[in-house]
Amino acid sequence: MISKQFALDLEYTFSSLSAAEREKFSGSTVLITGAAGTMGFYLTHFFYKFRDALRLKKVICLDNFILGKPAWIENISDDPHVTFDKFDIISDSIENIPAAADANFVLHMASIASPPFYRKFPIETIDANVTGLRRLFDFYRVKNLRGFVFFSTSEIYGDPPADKVPTDENYNGNVSCTGPRACYDESKRFGETLCKYFAQEFNLPISVVRLFNTYGPGMKINDKRVVADFASNILHGEDITILSSGAPTRTFCHIADSAFGCLKTLLHGRYDFFNIGIDKPEISITRLAEIYRDAGRGIFNYAGKINYSVSADKDYLTDNPQRRCPNVDKARKILGYNPTIYVEEGVARFLNFVKENPKENLQW
Ligand SMILES: NC(=O)c1ccc[n+]([C@@H]2O[C@H](COP(=O)([O-])OP(=O)(O)OC[C@H]3O[C@@H](n4cnc5c(N)ncnc54)[C@H](O)[C@@H]3O)[C@@H](O)[C@H]2O)c1
Repeated sequence: MISKQFALDLEYTFSSLSAAEREKFSGSTVLITGAAGTMGFYLTHFFYKFRDALRLKKVICLDNFILGKPAWIENISDDPHVTFDKFDIISDSIENIPAAADANFVLHMASIASPPFYRKFPIETIDANVTGLRRLFDFYRVKNLRGFVFFSTSEIYGDPPADKVPTDENYNGNVSCTGPRACYDESKRFGETLCKYFAQEFNLPISVVRLFNTYGPGMKINDKRVVADFASNILHGEDITILSSGAPTRTFCHIADSAFGCLKTLLHGRYDFFNIGIDKPEISITRLAEIYRDAGRGIFNYAGKINYSVSADKDYLTDNPQRRCPNVDKARKILGYNPTIYVEEGVARFLNFVKENPKENLQW
């Protein structure tokens, strides 16, 4: 059962696609890897809710449940048009997944995105982005693909100097290849290299999204990203705890916006790479905490304060970029991507989702 706020978010994403873009899904099979994660929750529900409106033939969801199997999957997996299988993209054989060979659109999202969790599974993270991606390309190279999107990240830019913020797609990055985040950042970078050469050598419709900080329905409140931590603090009536000076800045993109950017990229149908996020406002973590606190007052009668502390995890802040803000002009111009949910509104929407949803939709 989809809650009221979540239904509105999904409708927004749907209506952000043009009629011509929606038509491209007609009669198609969509395959999603990493479907149990944050983006997976949102996009699986999107395809489930609009499977008839988009005239989808089948949606195949795969995940190895490395962080756990969320209970919401049971609610959708009894539909014959939407299947959900335990599947490890690194080692399992995609030939064994019924109808995978017929997939027209593939979203390769499998890869833990939260730093404390990917640092626990560094080799698995590298393999999901490199070996898993390569295995998909080897399989789909001779199939009938209309679109393939690799989920890359703003982290491929590392910690850019001030004159490279806002960051556009031409910036080559300032990334450590041996630091505690390297398993994620560098495997995404090499994944992008695989995308370029497979698209070029085999004329495949591969596109790349460089996703910037996203939050909203699907994000588990025990996910350990700051947008999840603050939601957890509010839900549990605890003070909001900032585990840094609060000074680093980010823009925060609601998932209803980032999801339609990803879908537009998928439907682009030829090689290119796009920043997908929101370009304003760039705010400090302290300001984000204030926005959560103020929205929490109205939605949860929240009475907590904002505190500063130090993480017990010694690598929590190592290589943490000081500023992160995308230039999304390329996606705006080529894809018609235009995010509109600014952070005050987005946080309120997310907290309404948190209020309306059972625990099973909120936790790993
Ligand atoms: N959410 C964001 O803010 C953000 C930002 C930048 C990039 N991204 C990228 O977008 C994608 C989705 O992000 P998310 O936030 O949903 O991540 P997430 O961590 O919430 O979920 C990732 C999912 O991938 C699955 N997975 C991991 N390894 C796998 C494997 N070998 N085989 C099958 N499944 C596997 C996990 O079980 C999990 O369900 C990821 O590739 C991530 O790197 C996300």
